[in-house]
Amino acid sequence: MSNKLYIFDTTLRDGEQVPGCQLNTVEKIEVAKALQDLGVDVIEAGFPISSPGDFESVVEISKAVTWPTICALTRAVQKDIDVAAESLQYAKKGRIHTGIGTSYYHIHHKLHSTPEDILERAAEAVKYAKKYVEDVEFYAEDAGRTDNEYLAKVVEAVIKAGATVVNIPDTTGYCLPHEFGEKIKFLMDNVKGIEKATIATHCHNDLGMATANTIAGIINGARQAEVTINGIGERAGNTSLEEVVMILKSRYKALGISTNINTKKIYGTSRLISTLMNMPVQPNKAIVGRNAFAHSSGIHQDGVLKNRENYEIMDPTDVGINESSILLTARSGRAALKHRLELMGFDLSKEKLNEIYEQFLKIADKKKDIRDDDIALLAGDATRQEKRIKLDFLQVVTGKNLIPMATVRLDIAGEKFDATAAGNGPVDSAIKAIKQIIRRQVVIEEFLVQAITRGSDDIGKVHMQVEYNETIYHGFGANTDIITASAEAFLDAINKLPVV
Ligand code: KIV
Ligand code: ZN
Repeated sequence: MSNKLYIFDTTLRDGEQVPGCQLNTVEKIEVAKALQDLGVDVIEAGFPISSPGDFESVVEISKAVTWPTICALTRAVQKDIDVAAESLQYAKKGRIHTGIGTSYYHIHHKLHSTPEDILERAAEAVKYAKKYVEDVEFYAEDAGRTDNEYLAKVVEAVIKAGATVVNIPDTTGYCLPHEFGEKIKFLMDNVKGIEKATIATHCHNDLGMATANTIAGIINGARQAEVTINGIGERAGNTSLEEVVMILKSRYKALGISTNINTKKIYGTSRLISTLMNMPVQPNKAIVGRNAFAHSSGIHQDGVLKNRENYEIMDPTDVGINESSILLTARSGRAALKHRLELMGFDLSKEKLNEIYEQFLKIADKKKDIRDDDIALLAGDATRQEKRIKLDFLQVVTGKNLIPMATVRLDIAGEKFDATAAGNGPVDSAIKAIKQIIRRQVVIEEFLVQAITRGSDDIGKVHMQVEYNETIYHGFGANTDIITASAEAFLDAINKLPVV
């Protein structure tokens, strides 16, 4: 069996399904190009029948990307497959990913069907997709909870129908690692024709076992891992690319399997995704979290200084984290900024670079050292679409024994509106003043200020969830002034509301 593992990245499909993580087509192309540079083998670019935006993204990513396979998701439905095939027309290598639920729950309580009917529909969908493309992947949704004997029948039928890859998702993140490993082994040992297809893992992280299950699957014969950057995805997320890749690299002697990933691009890609999707990475996240390579206890610091390997099993530079990431200052030129942005996966036009450089100089005047996070925020802002409602002016008077008062001026499609309001704190007064102008019945459901960790001159990052008409809208803001960042985050969410 081959010792190469194919990396199938679904950040733009399963990852993008997360509420608040939606990207526009321009941003998706940027992510796809970064994934290509990272070295992924397959990019799942979207679910084309689900929306015109998804369809357009698959088309545009197919045009923009040169060597990875571009994959489009479908249900086992002819119309879905027709639309997916159309969306892939410009792909140099296109794959249709079709499938259906195979667990007892899905067959009986979701599809209201029978195991025999599902078996037939699975094979028919693959045959139908084969009319369009040679490369057809089949997913047995909820395979994690599917009886192994029945799953083997389905896998055999779809391989016979022409599936080149068969995906075994643990859709609900239910399996224990040894169970998932046994499931893959059972298929490898019992499915006639299994050597004609690649078996894929697609694990969700509901019980925190996605990476462990993926590795168990690989040990037992799976040769494609379906992953997302930073592990983003439905609910608790998907298996994270960086974890699987670095496990294989760090434990090569034990596992003997490798990938095409250029690991030095991992950190930059992680920052890019986190920024564009407004999805913070938890500080203790393996491989890419802020603290992943930080040694805080005296004993550990002493040990690392004596010999890095005393406490580090990976070299941070292997994942693209290097000390030079703190060297940008107000004296750095455009070329240095461009180089750093490229390392982080941003591929920007000259105009955008100039725009970011201006912002960079303003921040560099206020902060001693500019880090990758700060630059990623600026680059993320520059790629976002022009907003209808903008914060033109904000002044807040606050202090001990003072009633906080905010004066706000908004620019709404070119027209200026002013308001003043008092609140129980500076943020509250700013939001109340904004609400006076926008006059929409919105409720802030969540307000997250990312901790300042590197000094009082740091950029504060604010994530906000706003409820309007029973729908949640997400907003993000970043500024050295936390009140401005909060007002910007609120307006970012407001800009996503339907225009009345
Ligand atoms: O989790 C899952 O089962 C999926 C399939 C659509 C592949 O995302
Ligand atoms: Zn999934």
